[in-house]
Amino acid sequence: KPNLLSGMQPSASSLHLGNYLGALTQWVKMQEDFNAYYVIVDLHAITVPQEPAQLRENTRRTAAQYIAAGIDPEKSALFVQSHVPAHAQLAWVLNCITGFGEASRMTQFKDKSQKGGADNSSVGLFTYPILQAADILLYQPKAVPVGEDQRQHLELTRDLATRFNSRFGQTFEIPEAHILRETAKIYDLQEPTAKMSKSAADPKGLVNLMDEPSVIAKKIKSAVTDTDGEIRFDRDAKPGVSNLIGIYSAITGESIDSFTASLQGQGYGALKTAVADAVVSALDPIRNRAQELLGDPAELDRLLASGAAKANEIAERTLSDVYDRLGFVRP
Ligand code: TYM
Repeated sequence: KPNLLSGMQPSASSLHLGNYLGALTQWVKMQEDFNAYYVIVDLHAITVPQEPAQLRENTRRTAAQYIAAGIDPEKSALFVQSHVPAHAQLAWVLNCITGFGEASRMTQFKDKSQKGGADNSSVGLFTYPILQAADILLYQPKAVPVGEDQRQHLELTRDLATRFNSRFGQTFEIPEAHILRETAKIYDLQEPTAKMSKSAADPKGLVNLMDEPSVIAKKIKSAVTDTDGEIRFDRDAKPGVSNLIGIYSAITGESIDSFTASLQGQGYGALKTAVADAVVSALDPIRNRAQELLGDPAELDRLLASGAAKANEIAERTLSDVYDRLGFVRP
């Protein structure tokens, strides 16, 4: 089987519907056909300030949600980035073949540093995409399933891999971004032209996997729509309504056409009820299962340790190749 790698930050107490539809549901499907590595990127999380006790808790909560959503830790290597030292080690090497201008063109730094300005951001936030390239390249993956917002980082990863290979000899697989058109971008319920994100201006715009069903239903029922009253998919003219239709279709697998046809003559109230019911029935078992798993942190830690052992095996091999090619004297 070909390899696959993907990752998520443990920077909130819950994953959100964008993480779930854009990435996690793909991960669950793809683990059947790939040798999959799924990493919880705690080194990335500290590029912005984190409260230590919260970070520890959020890392376990993220692991529990992966497993609850269907990642099978026997089939796939589920692990924590800081358990595999090669990530930081390869990131250093890649830092040294990345141009300053090239790193400066990454739009995430511009977005995330906007509030405090670049001078108040960490250098870690600036080099974040290079650490992400290291995450990926260590595992020689063919595919990297992500949402649309990660496309630029995947392009950088491919550029760095190609550059290293041509300077030092064939070392890295050139990975493909695996982005599904339908779920590439889930939008904020209150601001449906912005992507759903944990840093949402209004918490009502963000559906969390760990939210209680009544909370989810309330958020969906107060989603921003429009005034023309027509249930029709049109991202430009009707971003709010289209986001709801897209969410429904992604969750249930029903096509957009057949779903909108089934609601002909009905109002936005009916649309919202259908979406809320679909989201609640998909997420409720995940939340319950995650809560159960969190009741036994020792077992979770054991699963993560076994994932790290599998990950270290291949990561150390790749790093050792890289050091060799660079001309480092090997011990
Ligand atoms: P993160 O933690 O922000 O998001 C995790 C995954 O969720 C996807 N996603 C979305 N998809 C659709 N609609 C949305 N509104 C939405 N919001 C988030 C993201 O595209 C991502 O796939 N830099 C990465 C973490 C990372 C990584 C990696 C990913 C570190 N190393 C290596 C892949 C491979 C990030 O911050 O994702």
